Amino acid sequence: MSDFDLVIRGGTVVTAADTVKADVGIRAGRIVTVAEKVDGGRRRIDASGMLIMPGGIDSHVHLAQPAFGGPAMADGFESGTRSAIAGGNTTVLPFALQPRGASLRTSVIDYHKEAEGKCYTDFGFHLIISDPTPSVLGQELPALVNDGYTSFKVFMTYDDLVLNDRQLLEVFDCARGCRALVMVHCEGYDAIRFMTDRLERAGNTAPYYHAISRPQSVEREATHRAISHAELTDVPIMIVHVSGRESMEQIRWAQQKGLKIYGETCPQYIALTADDLKGLNMDETGGKYVCSPPPRDRASWDAIWEGIRTGVFHTFSSDHCPFTYGSVMGKLNPKARTSFRWVPNGIPGVETRLQILFSKGVVEGRITLNEFVALTSTNHAKMYGLYPRKGSIAPGFDADIVIWDPNRKETVRQELMHHGADYTPYEGHAVTGWPIMTILRGKVVMEEGKILGAPGDGSFLKRDLSPYAARPSVAA
Ligand code: URP
Ligand code: ZN
Ligand code: ZN
Repeated sequence: MSDFDLVIRGGTVVTAADTVKADVGIRAGRIVTVAEKVDGGRRRIDASGMLIMPGGIDSHVHLAQPAFGGPAMADGFESGTRSAIAGGNTTVLPFALQPRGASLRTSVIDYHKEAEGKCYTDFGFHLIISDPTPSVLGQELPALVNDGYTSFKVFMTYDDLVLNDRQLLEVFDCARGCRALVMVHCEGYDAIRFMTDRLERAGNTAPYYHAISRPQSVEREATHRAISHAELTDVPIMIVHVSGRESMEQIRWAQQKGLKIYGETCPQYIALTADDLKGLNMDETGGKYVCSPPPRDRASWDAIWEGIRTGVFHTFSSDHCPFTYGSVMGKLNPKARTSFRWVPNGIPGVETRLQILFSKGVVEGRITLNEFVALTSTNHAKMYGLYPRKGSIAPGFDADIVIWDPNRKETVRQELMHHGADYTPYEGHAVTGWPIMTILRGKVVMEEGKILGAPGDGSFLKRDLSPYAARPSVAA
């Protein structure tokens, strides 16, 4: 008679703190014991030679989001979360976007309808605020934070989303009041428009000029401005998808000043460069790599590693934002062929995030195994109010686990992917380390690339307030 539904034996358990040879006993979807030897188990998995790590938590993915007035995203909740479990993830945090003029609450209800019964992973929502009206700030946001949507994202660019400085300040102030964490997309709108108009006038319309239209100075200026606004309103913020040295140094400067500024970076900023946007010969294939901020250069990879190693960055997310390449509904839509301005921004990456960081980080000796777990799972759980339910392997945590082969060598190829896009920007990239099994709350949902889970396995996560967001002030 066994006490456990599942026992994982013979592997090495890695958390953000420890690396130990241990067995893991699971009952009713939770981890019950982590011990030198665990007997029994209605099902036993031999994990000899493997790493047993907390399932990846990807706190920055876009699913079923209208593409800023453009073509449809290649992933809805079903294919996007299927891709996520294939990549060793067990939780994703996509966005519920408020279109201008719409109620935020109604937008959240719409995204729930889209996600209902479709998710292979657990999921929560960040809120994207595009229209911070008095009723949004005064009523809707505080009520939604109370209901478990404890973080929001604001944009300093994009026609349909950009907030002006006054609006940013109002949102930051509101976040302070309701103790939500604000994620900020830092690129300066006017500078990008100026550069885009100038490049187009000169006939420079190929996808590569997307990178020229938004150089690091544009990201640095916006990062500094967001930090200044956060200082003025006394609210912590998370600067997302940081691409290189200029913005990284702004965040480091703010952190050294004692401000609560957090940083996120992504695989594209350690694995792609602006040269990828040139395509085969300054042609449209460069559109496959158009995302914002754009990938920079190899010196920027070094700067990102410097930020990762020295703790400037807290999370490593995919910013999965997939469009098809070959269809007229995606990157190559008729308008996009006329100028980079119209190429939808975003690339797929939820399925390759862990492999890229493991390979370039752990295997190449830049980070430890424990730092890898912190950057891909634990810190996301802590930052976004999911800890201590998610993000570690210890009694009481959800049994969300990735069993990882640290020696497996693979070449990333589209045929291995489970996403809705028709390409991966990492095609041909050689990696070492691969997820061989994903376990969601005790259920094996992926084994050797085979999807064993079902849409609807994933549950909505009502998140706690982030301990990293504003705290109530202590009375003097
Ligand atoms: O190009 C990108 N990153 N698109 C996704 C939207 C965003 O800004 O995160
Ligand atoms: Zn963004
Ligand atoms: Zn994004």
